[in-house]
Amino acid sequence: MGSVASKSAGTEKLDLERIRPSFPTLARRIGEAPLVYLDSGASAQRVLASIEAVDRYERRHHSNVHRGSHTLSAEATDAYEGARATVADHLGAGDRREVVFVRNATEAINLVARAWGAANVGAGDRIVLTEMEHHSNIVPWQQLAEATGAAIDWVGVDDDGELVLDELAEALSRKPKLLAVTHLSNVLGTLNPISEIAAMAHDAGTLLLVDGAQAMPKLGVDVRELGADFYAVTGHKAYGPTGIGALWTRLELLREMPPFLGGGSMIRKVTKAGTTYADPPAKFEAGTPAIAQAIGMAAALRWLDSLGMDRVLEHEREITSYALDRLATVPGLRVFGPPATPDRVGPVSFEVEGIHAHDIAEILDRHGVAVRAGHHCAQPLMERLGVAATARASFGVYTTREEIDVLIEGIEDAKRVFGV
Ligand code: ALA
Repeated sequence: MGSVASKSAGTEKLDLERIRPSFPTLARRIGEAPLVYLDSGASAQRVLASIEAVDRYERRHHSNVHRGSHTLSAEATDAYEGARATVADHLGAGDRREVVFVRNATEAINLVARAWGAANVGAGDRIVLTEMEHHSNIVPWQQLAEATGAAIDWVGVDDDGELVLDELAEALSRKPKLLAVTHLSNVLGTLNPISEIAAMAHDAGTLLLVDGAQAMPKLGVDVRELGADFYAVTGHKAYGPTGIGALWTRLELLREMPPFLGGGSMIRKVTKAGTTYADPPAKFEAGTPAIAQAIGMAAALRWLDSLGMDRVLEHEREITSYALDRLATVPGLRVFGPPATPDRVGPVSFEVEGIHAHDIAEILDRHGVAVRAGHHCAQPLMERLGVAATARASFGVYTTREEIDVLIEGIEDAKRVFGV
């Protein structure tokens, strides 16, 4: 594939005219209006490279993996294991065996809570969470705490939407077993300083789990450089299919952890007396995996890498900055999260005085604009912000300034409709 970057004012930028046709859905109309898809944080649109990789696999190569001695099974196994190697490369993993395929980031976190948690967390132990976590990085830990008698400590969020690092230091002084934190808030667009947080956690003898669901599609993630112990990602926010995600963790941790689900493929030997387990990652992949979806996720990541993650990040910053500038011109509109700086990334959550977030989303939909409205699976954060819901615009590699202009027109229209 040729480069999809273009030279403009000396800076190489993403060439959106070439990128957008790679996303068939973007040609849709919603009623009369062209689709303006500003809900990539919930699920990004699928890139053609991924759709075609899945199609090729389904038409020519499908069989079960790691089982048969026939040609199709060997081809399917090669493609599936090749997909694992791609995910490992994309994340900067040292070894492809450090990548366990799961259904989504939620399942990756549940795997750690159930498998690592059951073996390492007991009554009186502490787990640290932050107020900006998605429910997927809260509920599994609450379930673990309930099952084991462990306690949960919370790190607060300040008025700029940043973690209060003094509170984190205080929580870590109690030597918790684990700290679970998002890399990029799905509501506020806050980018957490993971390397710094990892150093603080490790000084306290605490392991660090990072929810990378929102970050992976936007940043050049390097798990070794970040210093995380567990990193959870998902395919569908990174232009690939649903039903596939991955957990990265260090090989020695995977070796020590007991399995999560039991069944076929994860065993070394089963007798009536008991079972011994396969080496990782197979130990954590019971049953037939999502083969086509793993191949689709890898194809999407290869496509993303071909753009250059530095350019992807630059585009995200630029479009976020433009959106924040335009939103600042709307009277009665309040943006949540860190103030506008050149480094600020999306999503951008906002409320408009006098209009419920769901009503804004409904009127925007009449303009073809897709945004998410609600609590964004982050109710503790909503409580902290003192709101029941926000409207949220989230961006992708295909988002244009013109689309942000349509968003603003839609918000102005909503204000007219509601007379505010
Ligand atoms: N976690 C996804 C979101 O924030 C679904 O919208």
